[in-house]
Amino acid sequence: MKELVVAIDGPAGAGKSTVAQIVARKLNYTYIDTGAMYRAVTWAALKGSCSSENIEGVTQLLQRMDISLKYTEGQLQVCVNGENVTAAIRTPQISRSVSEYAKLPAVRQAMLIRQRQMADQGGVVMDGRDIGTHVLPDAEVKIFLTASIAERAGRRWRELKGKGFDTDLEQLTHEIAERDRMDSQREIAPLMQAPDAILVDTTGLTIDAVVETILLIYKERKKLV
Ligand code: DC
Repeated sequence: MKELVVAIDGPAGAGKSTVAQIVARKLNYTYIDTGAMYRAVTWAALKGSCSSENIEGVTQLLQRMDISLKYTEGQLQVCVNGENVTAAIRTPQISRSVSEYAKLPAVRQAMLIRQRQMADQGGVVMDGRDIGTHVLPDAEVKIFLTASIAERAGRRWRELKGKGFDTDLEQLTHEIAERDRMDSQREIAPLMQAPDAILVDTTGLTIDAVVETILLIYKERKKLV
């Protein structure tokens, strides 16, 4: 039977990675977190003191950069040139800098090629900002996941607190809004709902309810392909 491609896009903190991971597990599909890839690039650039204005430096960095996404006991592990950066890419510092690197044409092109390769056999759930619009425009299932800014900031605040980061909710709200603005207004592949994507607003919904909604959409689409 044909394996489908599920694209889940949306702003920061909408619950994409949590939901996409569960949906992938239930379908026995591979989950691909493209935000983690942009975070990995940002981590490597900051480590190498390569600013986002240094296009030549970033281009060279991309050429020698191997990013791997693997699963250990169901948990996504992100490695850059063999070094495990799973925790290091989730710090507030990376979150603040990632949009600066994610808007660079060289970075987007390099990630686009890798992401298309990862999805070419089907059977994947890929989440990000431009999956349904640019990376996989032919995806059979397209979801645009969103939630109110207050809810998204609250979720991120609890997630960071759980990891030991003491952040100010108001500042976090401001940072998320700023990241959404940058991601939505960049020239190449901005954050945008694809015309054929289904909008799912997760404000006030449980994770289980969101997963069920997406699985229903998937089953309906599957009947048609
Ligand atoms: O989903 P996330 O918060 O981990 O994503 C981190 C950043 O990466 C996000 O602010 C924008 C960028 N990104 C992107 O530009 N395109 C994608 N497909 C995924 C993420």
